[in-house]
Amino acid sequence: MRLLHRTVQVLREQGPVAVAVKAGWTIRNELRHASERRRAPALLRHLHADPPRTPQAVTDLLWSPAGALVRPDQVRSELEGLLRAVAGEGRPRRILEIGTHNGGTLLGWSAIAADDATIISLDLPLGAYGGGYREWRAPIYRGFARAGQSIHLLRADSHEPSSLRQVEAILRAEPLDFLFIDGDHSYSGVRQDYQMYAPLVRASGLIAFHDIAHHPPRAATQVDRFWREVKAGHDHTEFIRDPAQGWAGIGLIRVQ
Ligand SMILES: C[S@@+](CC[C@H](N)C(=O)[O-])C[C@H]1O[C@@H](n2cnc3c(N)ncnc32)[C@H](O)[C@@H]1O
Repeated sequence: MRLLHRTVQVLREQGPVAVAVKAGWTIRNELRHASERRRAPALLRHLHADPPRTPQAVTDLLWSPAGALVRPDQVRSELEGLLRAVAGEGRPRRILEIGTHNGGTLLGWSAIAADDATIISLDLPLGAYGGGYREWRAPIYRGFARAGQSIHLLRADSHEPSSLRQVEAILRAEPLDFLFIDGDHSYSGVRQDYQMYAPLVRASGLIAFHDIAHHPPRAATQVDRFWREVKAGHDHTEFIRDPAQGWAGIGLIRVQ
């Protein structure tokens, strides 16, 4: 009924051409999802038959044809640099990712994490900066876990106090080793994620921010502004392939 109501509304307000264009777009989108869904078992078979355990093996998989289903919204060399830095500290046991979308970074964390790691993803369905993911992807994301690991998928707004409470309940008072912030990219959004979740990270633990590279002024991404503030007070590293690339870039800080 909602679809019919919406169609009549678009027909009245924008005319038959707009209805045809939107119908074509919706059909193309649904066909893409159906085709992606069919490719999921092959990816999981590949992952379990030959689990990537090194940063390079992770990015080789994510940028292979099999990995296209979960290709991250990242610059490959930047993600590989971050994976190396995090894995270089020893395999993390507790990880929180804010912003999962196609699942690529989540796959990366599970690959470099300890065999008994707890990995939490927090992603807002239809959220800005990627749009979240459809429910059919949830079993794939849980399937990234090796035996002994657990992956928890929270589909909620990271800024809600209830989301923080859910994360705390999963962690059962244990601190995070690594926090990846890649959700709401507005200045106030990224700052709020930091203020709410950084206290969960242990001393000397790591926090990474995606999209710290300077973006065109009209882009809604303002992580670079927050990054300049936060890096000033911390031991930090930047992974940016090209300072003029206009997107991406990863900043990593060590909690004091
Ligand atoms: C750029 S994508 C994440 C990409 C992913 N880390 C990767 O590279 O594989 C950003 C995601 O953040 C989610 N998001 C935006 N605002 C959010 C919020 N307030 N709480 C939780 N998730 C949010 C969006 O729905 C989107 O899926």
